[in-house]
Amino acid sequence: PQGLLRQEPRLRLDVLDRLHNCSVLSAAQFDKDLLGELAKLAAHLQLRRCPVSKALEDKIMAAAFFEPSTRTRLSFESAMLSVGGKTISVADAKTTGVAKGESLRDIGQMFNSYADLVVVRHTEQSAIAEMSEYLRIPLINGGNGSDEHPTQALADWYALLKWRPEIAFGAIPERFRLNIGIIGTPGNMRTVKSFLTLALLFHENINHITIFSEMADPLGDDLRELCDNSPIGINFSRDLQGNLEYLDVIYMNAIAFLGDGYRFYSEDFQLSAASRLKADTVILHPLARGPELAADLDDTPHNLYFNQADGAVWVRQALLLAIFGRVRGTVPDDLLI
Ligand code: CP
Repeated sequence: PQGLLRQEPRLRLDVLDRLHNCSVLSAAQFDKDLLGELAKLAAHLQLRRCPVSKALEDKIMAAAFFEPSTRTRLSFESAMLSVGGKTISVADAKTTGVAKGESLRDIGQMFNSYADLVVVRHTEQSAIAEMSEYLRIPLINGGNGSDEHPTQALADWYALLKWRPEIAFGAIPERFRLNIGIIGTPGNMRTVKSFLTLALLFHENINHITIFSEMADPLGDDLRELCDNSPIGINFSRDLQGNLEYLDVIYMNAIAFLGDGYRFYSEDFQLSAASRLKADTVILHPLARGPELAADLDDTPHNLYFNQADGAVWVRQALLLAIFGRVRGTVPDDLLI
């Protein structure tokens, strides 16, 4: 992460303070400044430049996961515990009143008394709005149905900004601007939607985004408007293998929504060490993976997906510190502007 801090290691507290006491429901809440400052804070944390062990010792985070998760729940819990905070968890909806018909609205009301912040994952898009109705503490969307997964997108872009800090903090010469390939359907896949939403912030340094999908129209209404208004060229193609040589970054996910339901990608959309990738192409995948991402890519320079998963704990720790207003007091004063 040193590269992220080379140009300006100091953090803009006025920007990070915009998250104080805020819920994080959508990637659309972030602009380039906020994403950049969060990534820099995550880099300082990853480099262990801040004495954070007790920063959140008076705070409790509820991790309420009504849909299975490995990375999101455990990285949030790890992030919270390593800054002295405490966690309470729902790892299985069947262990809550939901199994007896209790509403998310009433469960949200209970969280007001039990915790200072709640992270929610649910199979239904509407769960976030239902949980919010009586909730008075910050809510972080940990993935709601096919809608959004904003903190995954923060982890995705933290990995990319470590790889090429000039995406956020510089100007890439025109002929080297990035060509990004997204495999999937942003309108129906939450990680893909949140990733694309943040990608549009870096239009000065992105040349094209090509969406590879078997669907005729993989964008939903919200994204169509955002993409139509972006200076980035947005293309659609079914020919991933024929375009690999043009892609600098590939973002993929495990299953695709193909119009009538979720399915694994066909072989045309799978990648392995035998794929004709450029030598310096990096692959992002939020994991867990299916057959679309062969394990023989793990030991190649294309693998940015493990870095992406590792970085999630630092960017989530940065987010928690900002929401709880504890950046000052944690980060040494000479690193704050
Ligand atoms: N990337 C991600 O959301 O993984 P989990 O489903 O394991 O949380």
